[in-house]
Amino acid sequence: MENELKAIFTEQFGVAPTGSYFAPGRINLIGEHTDYNGGHVFPASITIGTYGQARKRDDQKIRLYSANFPEKGIIEFELADLSYQKVHDWANYPKGVVKFLIEAGGNIDSGFEIAYNGNIPNGAGLSSSASIELLTGVILRDLFDLPFEMIDLVKIGKKVENKFIGVNSGIMDQFAIGMGKKDHALLLDTNTLEYEVIPAAFGEYVVAIMNTNKRRELADSKYNERRAECEEALSRLQKKLDIQSLGDLDEATFNANTDLIGDETLIKRAKHAVTENQRTLKAKNALQTGDLVKFGLLLNQSHESLQYDYEVTGVELDTLVAAAQANPDVLGARMTGAGFGGCAIALVKQSAFDSFAEEVKHKYREVVGYDADIYLAKIDDGARKLSK
Ligand code: GLA
Repeated sequence: MENELKAIFTEQFGVAPTGSYFAPGRINLIGEHTDYNGGHVFPASITIGTYGQARKRDDQKIRLYSANFPEKGIIEFELADLSYQKVHDWANYPKGVVKFLIEAGGNIDSGFEIAYNGNIPNGAGLSSSASIELLTGVILRDLFDLPFEMIDLVKIGKKVENKFIGVNSGIMDQFAIGMGKKDHALLLDTNTLEYEVIPAAFGEYVVAIMNTNKRRELADSKYNERRAECEEALSRLQKKLDIQSLGDLDEATFNANTDLIGDETLIKRAKHAVTENQRTLKAKNALQTGDLVKFGLLLNQSHESLQYDYEVTGVELDTLVAAAQANPDVLGARMTGAGFGGCAIALVKQSAFDSFAEEVKHKYREVVGYDADIYLAKIDDGARKLSK
């Protein structure tokens, strides 16, 4: 893909690029909808992602092209006008990155050209947008020799989502994509940004990615709704409890104080945030001690909580996950990412992968009426420059 994109760049912009870059997508092993609740997450960066080719210009024009949206052509704007424009579509993600890099003190003093090409299935919940953000950050840091650490680029990516695009997402996706490490998962405390790099040692098991092929269209509005529900539950709990976030609560304290929340839906939402945080810590210990059976059970419990308490799954994800969980060669399965469609993951015995995939796809087609895609997740490094 790298060389193909180099040719695309040259064809579109009429000159050769000066650098080649890549940013992965991510899966989240466990810790869903905890990152905006001050809890823990356990994601990993994967081999599929977004490639970029770039060069500086002598004038003030920014020209962006995506091989994933060829019908949009080259999207062009001036360095002096970095306002959100609906017509600029996907290019608003990189535009927001430029804006906030400059606001953070980055000396971007000329225009540039970037060609993008991603192989993350669109709308699959594997963070194609965070991948574009981190890719753009890494490219501009390199082209303009900007004095930013990866963690700064991570925070800028999140700011783009929150302040430029209008999705109140947490920091998990950008963090995983920026800081990811080959064959490892990151146990991140989203409250402090302290993290541990844990070997993704699954023995004779592998992680399968199962794509519902249902785009998570409702995701953004429902996502913001869930976040608001958690904030409301937190503020009701804070009337009596001295806590900063739902992530500060253990299950016993939460259970003893649900009457403070006093609303059944809000209690369910907060219960998910509290129990999922605890499950994430347990899952990290299980993985570290090689207790894969326990790790798998925690994945199953996570899905159950997302299905019944947080209500962000839907028939497509539930069908895939139930089919995977029923397979004797699977230790556990759950949705991954925001939910409402997108992807699930399963821990599957490697030697049985093909029969597992066939069986799950068959059951999915029977219930949902179209095909799911199932493939192996490979964990690789975070966003980076590839070569000149
Ligand atoms: C999306 C958001 C993340 C996180 C997950 C749910 O991927 O971008 O910040 O909240 O959903 O865990």
